[in-house]
Amino acid sequence: MSKTPQITPARNRGMFITGTDTHVGKTVVTTALGVALKKKGLRLGVMKPVETGICPSRREPETDSSRLLRVLAIVDPPDVVTPYQFSDPLSPLAASRKAQQPIDFECIKNLYQELSRNCDRLLVEGVGGVMVPLTEQQTVRDLIVYLELPCVVVSRPTLGSVNHTLLTLEALRDRKIHVLAIVLNQTTSALRSEVEQLQYESTSQLIRELSGIPVVGPIPFEPLLETDWEQGIRQLTEDPAITQLMTILRT
Ligand SMILES: Nc1ncnc2c1ncn2[C@@H]1O[C@H](COP(=O)(O)OP(=O)(O)O)[C@@H](O)[C@H]1O
Ligand SMILES: [Mg+2]
Repeated sequence: MSKTPQITPARNRGMFITGTDTHVGKTVVTTALGVALKKKGLRLGVMKPVETGICPSRREPETDSSRLLRVLAIVDPPDVVTPYQFSDPLSPLAASRKAQQPIDFECIKNLYQELSRNCDRLLVEGVGGVMVPLTEQQTVRDLIVYLELPCVVVSRPTLGSVNHTLLTLEALRDRKIHVLAIVLNQTTSALRSEVEQLQYESTSQLIRELSGIPVVGPIPFEPLLETDWEQGIRQLTEDPAITQLMTILRT
């Protein structure tokens, strides 16, 4: 861990939820954490500053921002919560180039500050992983620095994830970004074989040993998320990983 003074939740009530990849569970973790924070009576705000592929599909019938707003019963205007929505299911810079709409960090920060005035906690969900380009010169990592936020990293407990997790942490530490916790999340259904079980356990264990920061989870695979997303989230909110995360965040 870097010894440089960093932004902590006590100084700044915002938090950036990033991950090792897309589809790793950032929206699931942000929403479950949000439900837990609201249960504590905290006034919650959310932001998903950049979202691509917003056309509903059978696999993903709702956008991240509408899921967050609906389940967390937040009434902030959708275009403030998500100022950059691109219909093409491309990486942000590709989508922004295609739409000829550049992403402006100052605009995101102004909206972030506007939202944060009316809440105790503001959860900002990232897009993809930390090195994803958002503009010709800036990445998601630059946005975290620009917003001066500590972050939570969502990661998988599956083979390959030790590398992805440690690379993500290295990239964040390089810019003195404070990582509050890693949340391991099981995004695929039942572990089929003994080998898969061993991979899951040893990956989780190695991430715990080598990351040097608190690790919670793995959050189990929750089949309800496919049929009833809100119920699935409410189920996961009761998981010990979310309770531990709340303790780490000192809420
Ligand atoms: N623990 C879990 N159990 C079951 N499905 C999950 C779990 N975590 C995520 N998913 C599913 O995986 C997909 C990707 O999750 P999501 O939170 O949208 O990822 P991200 O925001 O990182 O792209 C979604 O369809 C979500 O419902
Ligand atoms: Mg998401």
